[in-house]
Amino acid sequence: MGVGNLPMNVELKHIHKHFGKVHANNDIVLNVPSGTIQGILGENGAGKSTLMKVLSGFIQADSGEILLDGHPVTIHSPADAIQHGIGMLHQDPLDFPPMRALDNFLLGHSGGLFPDRKAVARDFKRLAAQFDFSLDPDSYVDSLTVGERQQLEILRLLWLGARVLILDEPTTGISAIQKAKLFETLRKLTAQGMTVIFVSHKLEDVEVLCHTVAVLRAGKLVGEVKAPFQTKKLVELMFGKEISLGARQAAGPGRSVLELRGVAIEDIRLRMSDINLSVRGGEVIGLAGMEGSGQGPFIRACAGLMRTVGGRVLVNDRDLTGKSYHAFKRNGVSFLPASRLEEGLVPGLTLTEHFVLSEETKGLFIDREGGRKLAEDRISSFNIRGTPLSTVESLSGGNQQRALLALLQDPLSLILLEHPTRGLDIESTIYIWNKLKERCKQGAAIIFISSDLEEILQYSDRVLVFFSGKVSSPLDASKTTVEQLGNLIGGKGWESLKTEKAHG
Ligand SMILES: Nc1ncnc2c1ncn2[C@@H]1O[C@H](COP(=O)(O)OP(=O)(O)O)[C@@H](O)[C@H]1O
Ligand SMILES: [Mg+2]
Repeated sequence: MGVGNLPMNVELKHIHKHFGKVHANNDIVLNVPSGTIQGILGENGAGKSTLMKVLSGFIQADSGEILLDGHPVTIHSPADAIQHGIGMLHQDPLDFPPMRALDNFLLGHSGGLFPDRKAVARDFKRLAAQFDFSLDPDSYVDSLTVGERQQLEILRLLWLGARVLILDEPTTGISAIQKAKLFETLRKLTAQGMTVIFVSHKLEDVEVLCHTVAVLRAGKLVGEVKAPFQTKKLVELMFGKEISLGARQAAGPGRSVLELRGVAIEDIRLRMSDINLSVRGGEVIGLAGMEGSGQGPFIRACAGLMRTVGGRVLVNDRDLTGKSYHAFKRNGVSFLPASRLEEGLVPGLTLTEHFVLSEETKGLFIDREGGRKLAEDRISSFNIRGTPLSTVESLSGGNQQRALLALLQDPLSLILLEHPTRGLDIESTIYIWNKLKERCKQGAAIIFISSDLEEILQYSDRVLVFFSGKVSSPLDASKTTVEQLGNLIGGKGWESLKTEKAHG
């Protein structure tokens, strides 16, 4: 057994799978020739795992056909699948009992006779050496890292005769070195004629590894592309055109939600004065500047978290100058700080508890059952990878950010965000902005701080630049380049701008 078996083409025809009302796979047609690395890309919930579970026998499709080398097959169980040469590595790290690697390796072996441990240990070592995996057959599985367990599982599937290897989100939780080794292994395997199906929601992984990528969205196959890939194209397929990168939404003639009249702000290090700004509903204002150039105090002043020392602050035409954060909040202002866990989410509390707490500020009484229902609704509409009982610190950064967005109360006039997408991958970033743009369409205005100049220009209608206590007049984002912005935040090119300070 082992590598070197005959190659195998995989065809999926008109696969449908429902879970209750969810059409998780909707008429999927896919052809994967042997010797290729086929990517399956899609947002969380797109239906990727479902499709792979159908192919690997963990679940059955409602209808549709699977053909291997042109022959229809029925796959009722993972054991059936491996008999046919299909092996799958699961998304969730399996809970291994405390057994030795070699014994784990023997799991699922159906040779009838109990295999000769010595011979198997030799196979194990030979296979491990072939892929440069430093796995000791006598080590205990529960002492292995996620990456090593993954290596063990790959060896086991190959040893059982897999010719098609399915990996579901395999790069989550492994180190960069292990990832590089995994990719190298997958390339070696396909060079030997194996078929690899690589499932991911991460563009960069799919782009460097795959020969072809099929994109799923909301249960449907929305497109297939071959390497070399254009990120923009993949993003469009993943998220749909309407929210593609760079889609700036012109602010309508919305009502004024925030007005700063001659405002002065002071903190220990700098003083900004005579800031004038009028923000309308639907508008996005980006705040650019080096860390510590004044944008932090500015956004906190807009949130009522920092007292202004001059001028007036109006929210929805109401003068809130000098009022508290709670007064701003009651008037539809919400602030999402950069430090998610320190200021926005409470470690140790579950998602349900967060949602219930955020509702209770409205004076609603929510029972346990209602709380769970509320959490389930928000988890599903904000696509949070977690359960109602997940604690917030157990979520990934992107999912924490989604949870924070889901906590924003309706209706909102002004959303203030500090580094809303810092540290997130491009998919989560696009998702977050998609949700924010929805809020704009509903009439909210957004003011956000980012150190990513492209993000600023991409999503803002107007930009304010901060440089050591100076605030620029609003720049039209569509007429500003990254280079100009870069110069301004570094203090260059201000002569040609009108600055608020100059008038004060
Ligand atoms: N066992 C299940 N029971 C109910 N719904 C499910 C089940 N598995 C998946 N789903 C739903 O099917 C959709 C697709 O899920 P999945 O295939 O896991 O997506 P992906 O792997 O692309 O993130 C989601 O809406 C998910 O909630
Ligand atoms: Mg999945």
